[in-house]
Amino acid sequence: MSQPLPHPMYPTANHDEQARQDFVAAFRAHLASQLVPGNRVAYERRALPRFVREHGREPADFHEVRAAMRGDSYYQFWSALQRRSQELMWESVIDTAERELPQLIDTAQTLAQRAAQSGGAGGSLRLDPTLVVPRYHTAVDIHLQPGGYHTDFAPDDVAAGAIYDMGLGIYLQGAAGPANEAMGLLLLSFLRERLPEFRPTRILDMGCGIGNSTLPWVTAFPEAEVHAIDVAAPLLRYGHARAEALGARVHFSQQNAERTDFEAGSFDLVVSHIMMHETSRSALPRIIAECRRLLRPGGRMLHLEIPRGSTPFQQFMYNWEVWNNNETFAVNMTGLDLAALAVDAGFDPTQVEAADHVQRRSREQRLYADETLWKVLFARR
Ligand SMILES: C[S@@+](CC[C@H](N)C(=O)[O-])C[C@H]1O[C@@H](n2cnc3c(N)ncnc32)[C@H](O)[C@@H]1O
Repeated sequence: MSQPLPHPMYPTANHDEQARQDFVAAFRAHLASQLVPGNRVAYERRALPRFVREHGREPADFHEVRAAMRGDSYYQFWSALQRRSQELMWESVIDTAERELPQLIDTAQTLAQRAAQSGGAGGSLRLDPTLVVPRYHTAVDIHLQPGGYHTDFAPDDVAAGAIYDMGLGIYLQGAAGPANEAMGLLLLSFLRERLPEFRPTRILDMGCGIGNSTLPWVTAFPEAEVHAIDVAAPLLRYGHARAEALGARVHFSQQNAERTDFEAGSFDLVVSHIMMHETSRSALPRIIAECRRLLRPGGRMLHLEIPRGSTPFQQFMYNWEVWNNNETFAVNMTGLDLAALAVDAGFDPTQVEAADHVQRRSREQRLYADETLWKVLFARR
């Protein structure tokens, strides 16, 4: 696994913590490369033939694959280990974040003060203590991260940000790169393939989290004014300090992407990276409509989403996260017509594209299937 990019906000694990984090990373790589493939064998050799015997046909969708697989002992064995690996992942990084928390809060405040006094990279942070965090984040601890993204456990907390930064590297087996920036780079490469001449001057990243996917946009378009929003205050505090520490000028604000306070027609590029699957069935159309409102004519909307699989078996494997990892809404993304979502929000159908974008991953870095196709929703206002 690649080493994380060192910066003043990245917690430094002590010897024992590092050993535990390395163990969890190796454990997850082992599950991905050695045990995940056995689920297909269990399906093809046992669950599928049994289903066909009983129904006279193959499962029609991933729900039926799930019904056929749930009782399979190999699947249960892998599933229990996979769930435990997720819990261990958080446990292993939380120790480091908690031990360093006072220092991290202090560093974040110093970097924020410097930015506010027009020093540093020139970015900003605007928090809104009155913002109501949507129920799709408060109802459960998303992907088992204790307290989810939004919970402040201490005044001026940055823990959720530090935990996400460390956890993402382990979760993706380093596939997101040393600065966890791969998803931003991936979407940027998509835009460059389609529109090599496009030079946005005002960019918005929705659901920016700690700004890990935002920063490639700053590097790619140094003249642009880059804004980044999220509902989670501890992520934004951490993200702002992280961006300042890395010399990236980003204006972070705590806002709900369903309705922001930015002026209509004030951006020429609105992007998001793996946000859509963590919203809700009713929020998602509102978010796409908000993108349309925010774009000036000719502006572009660009959303990156995780693969959902194309066969019922692959879809069943990807939806493991829904049933076992508190990714509750993500189930609605399976088979969702992204292009229709944009058209329903008012985009011209001839200006909308829902595409697959390939990322190569090693055997250890893949999640639940060999497939490496990310989903991209691309539209012109
Ligand atoms: C999986 S994280 C992705 C973070 C980051 N974009 C990345 O590439 O790693 C999804 C983020 O979307 C944010 N989010 C979800 N719903 C949102 C909404 N309605 N408005 C703003 N942010 C939202 C969450 O708080 C979380 O930080």
